[in-house]
Amino acid sequence: MTESTIAPIDYLTSRRSQKLVVAPAPTGEQLAQILQTAMCAPDHAAMRVWRFAVVTQQYIAALTNLAIDATRRSGREITPEKEQNMRKWLGDVPMLLGLAYKVSHDNDKVPEIEQTLSMGAAVMNIQNAAHMLGFASYWSTGLGTYTDEVPEALGFDALDYRFVGFLALGTPKMKLPVAQRPDPMTMTHFWDGKV
Ligand SMILES: Cc1cc2nc3c(=O)[nH]c(=O)nc-3n(C[C@H](O)[C@H](O)[C@H](O)COP(=O)(O)O)c2cc1C
Repeated sequence: MTESTIAPIDYLTSRRSQKLVVAPAPTGEQLAQILQTAMCAPDHAAMRVWRFAVVTQQYIAALTNLAIDATRRSGREITPEKEQNMRKWLGDVPMLLGLAYKVSHDNDKVPEIEQTLSMGAAVMNIQNAAHMLGFASYWSTGLGTYTDEVPEALGFDALDYRFVGFLALGTPKMKLPVAQRPDPMTMTHFWDGKV
């Protein structure tokens, strides 16, 4: 199946996360196109909670250092082997997207769970759009996501934002086979109308 013959729905079923991504990253124009799809996420009361911090390749080493140091400072262990693996992986990644949403704690109409879901839907659109343009992505909540320092350094203070991790975004390092997925009917039933 070549890209030109893929039906739109097959893009959705052929996407798979890919940790190993390399340069080139999306161009500015492609990134704008990808992010535009995030704006189409379901959004109760048009809250527009989605926020992104683009980390281009030149700053990924600095972010890696911060993530490792901040994680250790927060009391979580990173073994030397894990650190080495992280550095090796991120040394090839050409772009990271920091993912956050602007949280509204006291919205009567839209509880926080709906804001979280909207952010998740936005990220899903980004991952699918990246795939449609021939890129791959990988959502990670490593890299100091659950420290205060990393989100704050990216401009997302804990009072106003929920930081939900990073997307590594780039060109797939290798072609992976289509992933085996569950049969959705094992997770679905038709309601019989009885109350
Ligand atoms: C919010 C979120 C955070 C994640 N964080 C990690 C992570 O830190 N490390 C990891 O190995 N996978 C993580 N994953 C899983 C991968 O991004 C990916 O979804 C998984 O490997 C399955 O691949 P698939 O998307 O092709 O089904 C996370 C997924 C989500 C939704």
